[in-house]
Amino acid sequence: MSRPPALPRRNSRPAVPPLPAFEALDRTHRMVLQMLGEMEVLLSLLESQGAVPEARRMAREIHGFFEGHARQHHADEERSVFPGLLASNDESLRHHVLRLQQDHGWLEEDWRVLAPQLEAVAQGYNWFELPMLRLALPVFRELYEEHIALEESLIYPAAMRREAALAEGARAREALKPA
Ligand SMILES: [Fe+2]
Ligand SMILES: [Fe+2]
Repeated sequence: MSRPPALPRRNSRPAVPPLPAFEALDRTHRMVLQMLGEMEVLLSLLESQGAVPEARRMAREIHGFFEGHARQHHADEERSVFPGLLASNDESLRHHVLRLQQDHGWLEEDWRVLAPQLEAVAQGYNWFELPMLRLALPVFRELYEEHIALEESLIYPAAMRREAALAEGARAREALKPA
Protein backbone atom coordinates (compact mmCIF):
# COMPACT_ATOMS: atom_id res chain seq x y z
CA MET A 1 0.00 0.00 0.00
CA SER A 2 1.45 3.38 -0.98
CA ARG A 3 1.92 6.10 1.65
CA PRO A 4 -0.15 9.26 1.25
CA PRO A 5 1.96 12.23 0.15
CA ALA A 6 3.13 14.44 3.03
CA LEU A 7 1.18 17.66 3.44
CA PRO A 8 3.15 20.72 2.28
CA ARG A 9 4.74 22.67 5.10
CA ARG A 10 3.34 26.14 5.61
CA ASN A 11 5.02 29.06 7.26
CA SER A 12 3.55 29.99 10.60
CA ARG A 13 1.54 33.21 10.58
CA PRO A 14 0.61 35.61 13.34
CA ALA A 15 -2.55 34.70 15.23
CA VAL A 16 -5.71 36.50 14.15
CA PRO A 17 -7.85 38.19 16.82
CA PRO A 18 -10.81 36.12 18.07
CA LEU A 19 -14.17 36.77 16.44
CA PRO A 20 -15.83 39.59 18.38
CA ALA A 21 -18.38 38.01 20.69
CA PHE A 22 -21.10 40.47 19.72
CA GLU A 23 -20.86 39.49 16.06
CA ALA A 24 -21.49 35.88 17.03
CA LEU A 25 -24.42 36.90 19.23
CA ASP A 26 -25.92 38.97 16.39
CA ARG A 27 -25.46 36.06 14.00
CA THR A 28 -27.41 33.80 16.35
CA HIS A 29 -30.25 36.35 16.36
CA ARG A 30 -30.45 36.15 12.57
CA MET A 31 -30.62 32.35 12.87
CA VAL A 32 -33.38 32.57 15.50
CA LEU A 33 -35.47 34.77 13.19
CA GLN A 34 -34.86 32.39 10.30
CA MET A 35 -35.89 29.36 12.39
CA LEU A 36 -39.05 31.13 13.56
CA GLY A 37 -39.92 31.75 9.90
CA GLU A 38 -39.21 28.10 9.13
CA MET A 39 -41.53 27.07 11.90
CA GLU A 40 -44.36 28.95 10.15
CA VAL A 41 -43.52 27.14 6.89
CA LEU A 42 -43.47 23.83 8.76
CA LEU A 43 -46.95 24.40 10.21
CA SER A 44 -48.33 25.13 6.73
CA LEU A 45 -46.68 21.96 5.44
CA LEU A 46 -48.12 19.90 8.29
CA GLU A 47 -51.54 21.36 7.57
CA SER A 48 -51.43 20.59 3.85
CA GLN A 49 -49.42 17.34 3.74
CA GLY A 50 -48.89 16.01 7.28
CA ALA A 51 -45.58 14.71 8.63
CA VAL A 52 -43.99 14.10 5.21
CA PRO A 53 -40.20 13.62 5.05
CA GLU A 54 -39.57 17.34 4.37
CA ALA A 55 -41.65 18.28 7.43
CA ARG A 56 -39.73 15.75 9.53
CA ARG A 57 -36.42 17.19 8.34
CA MET A 58 -37.49 20.75 9.14
CA ALA A 59 -38.83 19.75 12.56
CA ARG A 60 -35.53 18.02 13.35
CA GLU A 61 -33.51 21.08 12.35
CA ILE A 62 -35.70 23.54 14.28
CA HIS A 63 -35.81 21.30 17.35
CA GLY A 64 -32.04 20.87 17.36
CA PHE A 65 -31.43 24.59 17.00
CA PHE A 66 -33.65 25.73 19.88
CA GLU A 67 -32.53 22.87 22.14
CA GLY A 68 -28.87 23.59 21.58
CA HIS A 69 -27.58 26.76 19.95
CA ALA A 70 -30.39 29.10 21.06
CA ARG A 71 -30.33 27.89 24.66
CA GLN A 72 -26.55 28.25 24.76
CA HIS A 73 -26.93 31.80 23.41
CA HIS A 74 -29.15 32.72 26.38
CA ALA A 75 -26.64 31.17 28.76
CA ASP A 76 -23.80 33.16 27.13
CA GLU A 77 -25.72 36.41 27.53
CA GLU A 78 -26.53 35.61 31.16
CA ARG A 79 -22.85 34.92 31.80
CA SER A 80 -21.03 37.54 29.76
CA VAL A 81 -23.39 40.39 28.81
CA PHE A 82 -25.95 40.90 31.58
CA PRO A 83 -23.92 40.92 34.83
CA GLY A 84 -21.88 44.01 33.96
CA LEU A 85 -25.02 45.94 33.00
CA LEU A 86 -26.86 44.87 36.16
CA ALA A 87 -24.01 46.45 38.13
CA SER A 88 -24.54 49.78 36.34
CA ASN A 89 -25.96 52.91 38.00
CA ASP A 90 -28.40 53.38 35.13
CA GLU A 91 -31.73 52.28 36.56
CA SER A 92 -33.55 52.09 33.23
CA LEU A 93 -30.75 49.92 31.80
CA ARG A 94 -30.95 47.59 34.80
CA HIS A 95 -34.71 47.41 34.35
CA HIS A 96 -34.30 46.36 30.69
CA VAL A 97 -31.80 43.66 31.63
CA LEU A 98 -34.17 42.28 34.27
CA ARG A 99 -36.89 42.18 31.63
CA LEU A 100 -34.56 40.26 29.28
CA GLN A 101 -33.79 37.76 32.03
CA GLN A 102 -37.50 37.28 32.59
CA ASP A 103 -37.88 36.80 28.80
CA HIS A 104 -35.27 34.03 28.87
CA GLY A 105 -37.39 32.22 31.44
CA TRP A 106 -40.59 32.75 29.46
CA LEU A 107 -38.96 31.73 26.17
CA GLU A 108 -37.82 28.53 27.85
CA GLU A 109 -41.38 27.91 29.11
CA ASP A 110 -42.84 28.54 25.64
CA TRP A 111 -40.21 26.32 24.03
CA ARG A 112 -41.03 23.46 26.41
CA VAL A 113 -44.59 23.55 25.06
CA LEU A 114 -43.43 23.49 21.43
CA ALA A 115 -40.48 21.09 21.77
CA PRO A 116 -42.29 17.75 22.31
CA GLN A 117 -44.60 18.52 19.39
CA LEU A 118 -41.69 19.19 17.05
CA GLU A 119 -39.87 16.14 18.34
CA ALA A 120 -42.94 14.04 17.53
CA VAL A 121 -43.04 15.42 13.97
CA ALA A 122 -39.28 14.86 13.59
CA GLN A 123 -39.72 11.21 14.58
CA GLY A 124 -42.65 10.74 12.20
CA TYR A 125 -45.35 10.36 14.87
CA ASN A 126 -48.79 11.66 14.09
CA TRP A 127 -49.87 12.64 17.59
CA PHE A 128 -48.75 16.26 17.23
CA GLU A 129 -51.48 18.84 17.79
CA LEU A 130 -51.59 21.35 14.99
CA PRO A 131 -54.18 23.70 16.63
CA MET A 132 -51.98 23.89 19.72
CA LEU A 133 -48.88 24.63 17.60
CA ARG A 134 -50.86 27.31 15.77
CA LEU A 135 -51.66 28.98 19.10
CA ALA A 136 -48.23 28.58 20.70
CA LEU A 137 -46.01 29.68 17.81
CA PRO A 138 -47.15 33.36 17.59
CA VAL A 139 -46.62 33.78 21.33
CA PHE A 140 -43.09 32.37 21.10
CA ARG A 141 -42.31 34.32 17.93
CA GLU A 142 -43.57 37.67 19.20
CA LEU A 143 -41.67 37.39 22.47
CA TYR A 144 -38.46 36.39 20.66
CA GLU A 145 -38.74 39.26 18.17
CA GLU A 146 -39.30 41.83 20.94
CA HIS A 147 -36.46 40.32 22.94
CA ILE A 148 -34.00 40.51 20.04
CA ALA A 149 -35.08 44.08 19.23
CA LEU A 150 -34.39 45.20 22.81
CA GLU A 151 -31.02 43.45 22.90
CA GLU A 152 -29.82 44.84 19.58
CA SER A 153 -31.15 48.39 20.01
CA LEU A 154 -30.16 49.01 23.63
CA ILE A 155 -28.43 46.22 25.48
CA TYR A 156 -25.64 45.12 23.14
CA PRO A 157 -24.65 48.75 22.39
CA ALA A 158 -24.58 49.50 26.14
CA ALA A 159 -22.50 46.37 26.79
CA MET A 160 -20.08 47.29 23.99
CA ARG A 161 -19.69 50.83 25.37
CA ARG A 162 -19.02 49.38 28.81
CA GLU A 163 -16.45 46.96 27.41
CA ALA A 164 -14.71 49.80 25.53
CA ALA A 165 -14.67 51.98 28.68
CA LEU A 166 -13.18 49.14 30.74
CA ALA A 167 -10.50 48.52 28.11
CA GLU A 168 -9.72 52.25 27.98
CA GLY A 169 -9.41 52.36 31.79
CA ALA A 170 -7.05 49.38 31.76
CA ARG A 171 -4.91 51.04 29.07
CA ALA A 172 -4.79 54.30 31.06
CA ARG A 173 -3.72 52.45 34.24
CA GLU A 174 -1.07 50.58 32.30
CA ALA A 175 0.30 53.88 30.90
CA LEU A 176 0.58 55.32 34.42
CA LYS A 177 2.67 52.41 35.72
CA PRO A 178 6.30 53.31 36.41
CA ALA A 179 8.61 51.89 33.76
FE1 LIG B 1 -31.37 37.13 25.21
FE1 LIG C 1 -29.86 37.33 22.33
